[in-house]
Amino acid sequence: MIFLFPAKMSSTVTATKTADLGDRPGAASQAVFDREDKFGAHNYHPLPVALARAKGVYVWDVEGKRYYDFLSAYSAVNQGHCHPKIIKAMTEQVEVLALTSRAFYSNVLGEYEEYITKLFGYDKVLPMNTGVEGGETACKLARKWGYKVKKVPENKAKIVFAEGNFWGRTLAAVSSSNDPSSYEGFGPFMPGFELVPYNDTAALEKALQDPNVCAFMVEPIQGEAGVVVPDEGYLTKVRELCTKYNVLFIADEVQTGLARTGRMLAVDYEDVKPDILILGKALSGGIYPVSAVLANDPVMLCIKPGEHGSTYGGNPLGCKVAMAALQVLIDEKLAENADRMGRKLRESLAELPKDVVSVVRGKGLLNAIVINSKFDAWEVCLRLKENGLIAKPTHGDIIRFAPPLTITEEQMDDCLRIIKDTVMAFAKGL
Ligand SMILES: Cc1ncc(COP(=O)(O)O)c(C=O)c1O
Repeated sequence: MIFLFPAKMSSTVTATKTADLGDRPGAASQAVFDREDKFGAHNYHPLPVALARAKGVYVWDVEGKRYYDFLSAYSAVNQGHCHPKIIKAMTEQVEVLALTSRAFYSNVLGEYEEYITKLFGYDKVLPMNTGVEGGETACKLARKWGYKVKKVPENKAKIVFAEGNFWGRTLAAVSSSNDPSSYEGFGPFMPGFELVPYNDTAALEKALQDPNVCAFMVEPIQGEAGVVVPDEGYLTKVRELCTKYNVLFIADEVQTGLARTGRMLAVDYEDVKPDILILGKALSGGIYPVSAVLANDPVMLCIKPGEHGSTYGGNPLGCKVAMAALQVLIDEKLAENADRMGRKLRESLAELPKDVVSVVRGKGLLNAIVINSKFDAWEVCLRLKENGLIAKPTHGDIIRFAPPLTITEEQMDDCLRIIKDTVMAFAKGL
């Protein structure tokens, strides 16, 4: 006898359509929240807004209410939601050839590899899918280089990270975290990882003196830590120290990269070149998971066939999407716009009452405000949502403001009005 389904699995599954879930005001949204809560793992705590549609800087919920998106899917949607050129590239390619696996060549991968390596000035690229896979790839590359080139004794390689780092949720990524909500209950952890305080070059120099250290992996601005901007000169000193101690400088630009901070890369502010560059998120403009690790031959060629890869990494669909997404950033001068709009945003935010917004920080359109402990950042986000702008708190008191980089001056004025009205209502105890 052949069982097509395990005993407890039904062979006919129907799911209610969202539109059928109720017609009282707010009922459709509530139905979305309730169903996710019932059938989905509770690994996120979303703001109560049920989105159904998006275009550019706007998203609409299932009841048709429009909001400004001030999170941009954690900076994946730098080019604006559903950018027509990226969608076109995707739909054209998906009808022709979507996935080959790397068991075979495709006629698109090489074109993408040439495009992205020439754009960022590296010899080679290793394509992956998610940001965390980019980080994993960089760590594996660094370890291999450590053994093959730096001659670190077998299994002794160390990678140094900065406290407050966030590069995803795999076991390796949480092993480098000092945030209990990331690592607690997930041990045992990856050996050979060390932490130094962020923005502390004296501590870094001490750590790099250990001859078994093969790499220092760092975000040029710490995104998930709450948009922590290091002192000017930090990245220059990191580059200098890594060169001095023969340690690879890995820049995690998954969140800061691709025009978000007002430059194509955040390291461009100090004109430094990392040995390994990790890109993700906006590399697909929010359409599809695409990540990339870039390095020069002496590092990249340490990995040989069969030693690393991914079924979907470098697939023709992702490659076409990534080329379109990068070209949009260039053609639409989105770094320049992020720089201009970011300055405008921070200038206005700095004028808000300090007893509600105690700190404003950021670069380009990667910004955060710190809410005074008298108030609850979650409540502020709920009120912003009511007023037509969605943003998400992090670490209890920080709210990130990171709209799509396509935002116009007029739209920014509208957003600033919403933010000001919301904050003033808290200041007045309304
Ligand atoms: C700096 C940084 N690196 C890596 C990641 C992981 O990316 P992903 O969620 O696509 O795995 C993130 C995600 O927020 C990030 O901010």
